Amino acid sequence: AKGTGRSARGLRFGAVAPNTADQVTVPEGYRQNVVIRWGEPILRGAPDFDPENQTAKAQAGQFGYNNDFLSLLPLGDGRQVLVSNHEYTDEVLMFRGYDPENPTREQVEIAWAAHGLGVVVVEEERRTGKLTAVTRHGLNRRITATTEFRLQGPAAGSDLVKTSADPTGTKVLGTLNNCSGGTTPWGTTLHGEENVDQYFANGTRATDKRYGLKPGATERKWERFDQRFDVAEEPNEIHRFGYVVELDPYDPESTPVKHSALGRFKHEGASIALTPDGRPVAYSGDDSKFEYFYKFVSSKRMRTGKSAADREHNMTLLDEGTLYVAKVTGDSPAAEIDGSGKHPQDGQFDGSGTWIPLATATADGAESHVEGMSAEEVFVFTRIAADKAGATKMDRPEDIEPSPRTGKVYLALTNNSERGTDGKAPADEANPRNANKHGAVLELTENGDNPAATGFGWLLFLVAGDPKDPATYFGGFPKDQVSPISCPDNVTFDPHGNLWISTDGAQLGSHDGLFGVATSGAYRGQLKQFLTMPTGAETCGPLVQGRRVLVAVQHPGEIDGASVEKPASSWPDGPGRIVRPSVVSVWREDGSDIGV
Ligand code: FEO
Ligand code: CA
Ligand code: CA
Ligand code: CA
Repeated sequence: AKGTGRSARGLRFGAVAPNTADQVTVPEGYRQNVVIRWGEPILRGAPDFDPENQTAKAQAGQFGYNNDFLSLLPLGDGRQVLVSNHEYTDEVLMFRGYDPENPTREQVEIAWAAHGLGVVVVEEERRTGKLTAVTRHGLNRRITATTEFRLQGPAAGSDLVKTSADPTGTKVLGTLNNCSGGTTPWGTTLHGEENVDQYFANGTRATDKRYGLKPGATERKWERFDQRFDVAEEPNEIHRFGYVVELDPYDPESTPVKHSALGRFKHEGASIALTPDGRPVAYSGDDSKFEYFYKFVSSKRMRTGKSAADREHNMTLLDEGTLYVAKVTGDSPAAEIDGSGKHPQDGQFDGSGTWIPLATATADGAESHVEGMSAEEVFVFTRIAADKAGATKMDRPEDIEPSPRTGKVYLALTNNSERGTDGKAPADEANPRNANKHGAVLELTENGDNPAATGFGWLLFLVAGDPKDPATYFGGFPKDQVSPISCPDNVTFDPHGNLWISTDGAQLGSHDGLFGVATSGAYRGQLKQFLTMPTGAETCGPLVQGRRVLVAVQHPGEIDGASVEKPASSWPDGPGRIVRPSVVSVWREDGSDIGV
């Protein structure tokens, strides 16, 4: 198979060819299993899944819908704690006979219970990477759209976040649209609240518009069942969503936190690097067309102890520090960027950048660095602050991840159909293709390799697409030896330092997939496809450990016109069974590490 043996360590497998099979396709010599599916009972007392008679009460004790970001935390004795995001619900694929104009209260409450986060203990099979779920373990937990959160940081208690149900502006019910996330070095998980606009009706203010809300009813019609989802009735509820959430999965009684100091926008996720003196830096992309990417530099040091006091301290690290947004500048003449993706004369899409400070939060208060906005406004209306600061409009900044080996930071820019169209911002060196269909991956090097730096260098490591397309670029590797890739979304690193990239909405005629690529050494840029998804599914939450690849199969069967009655996929349980988003583990038949 292509590339086996002549690849970087960790990527020595036969690349999976692009395909449209309704299954998870893995390399030769690899095996897979479903670890857990939507609806499997995880809490004590939860009933078995019965899709024809689902209830909100049952769902609140079962694995949620549309698993996205995944984290695995050590537990010992061959067990780990799996944490999953449940980004959103797709009612036509969940309920037989669903009437979108008239959802029932029960259906809406099932959807609330199917959103949020899941914590499930998993067991490792001896000698392979196979994982199985330990249902009803004491650490298992569901966080839903109605679980109580504590809002922390500079926006907590502000008038902008007070509601009739919460005059303190600190107690928020629920988390929504958790897309990607991160695992912190202090053993908690971070979860981005992404497209939260879709849950709120009657958004007519300028700030609502800037966050994507629309006047009138929502598609889901939750506002009929809880007026907090109606901006006309409860104007500040929307200001309590769009944050980075932190969970301590080791304490099932803990109150999860929303960190306002990381700003409010469509957080794809958040990933942590540590400064040389032990302060966390959280990187985060705002996934919409022409939006920005950000970092938060904490002023507090992480404690490495494991006591309750240490853990409590560490869960406040992301409350004090400075929030920055990126301004990205190319080093080639603008005239050489023609929007086609043709490389400029210096041979690289590259240049330098500045982190522009927006506001600083301290123990005693917060200071705005943006003229005409208070600090509270900067943290709640962060997009508007970044507009004023002159940040660079990117092609949908999705997941972002610092390499644990080199410190270089990798940002997926998934696509932007509107780049350079209808008077919208034209191509620039960092976003070099108009009507960008396939996306890119940007490699950022902080000045002095310090994540707290206020300046950086950058280059496009990948310009995605069909390698035969002259505009594509694969880190300089010969393009006849790479897999085609389109619409990079999630990024993660394996233990060898290779970057793994999953895709969402690939535009090359193949289903979405997962890819690995070396970022340094002789094989830098040799991108290889490791697996492909079933029909309609997006590749989410990839994790690559020694013996296992773990992946979330999100929204299988989500094709226009598909429904429970007319499914587009029969994954994972075969024809006649309801389609179920699920987590899959992949391992090598012979039990050795992935790709060695
Ligand atoms: Fe939920 Fe940006 O993907
Ligand atoms: Ca998604
Ligand atoms: Ca250049
Ligand atoms: Ca995503």
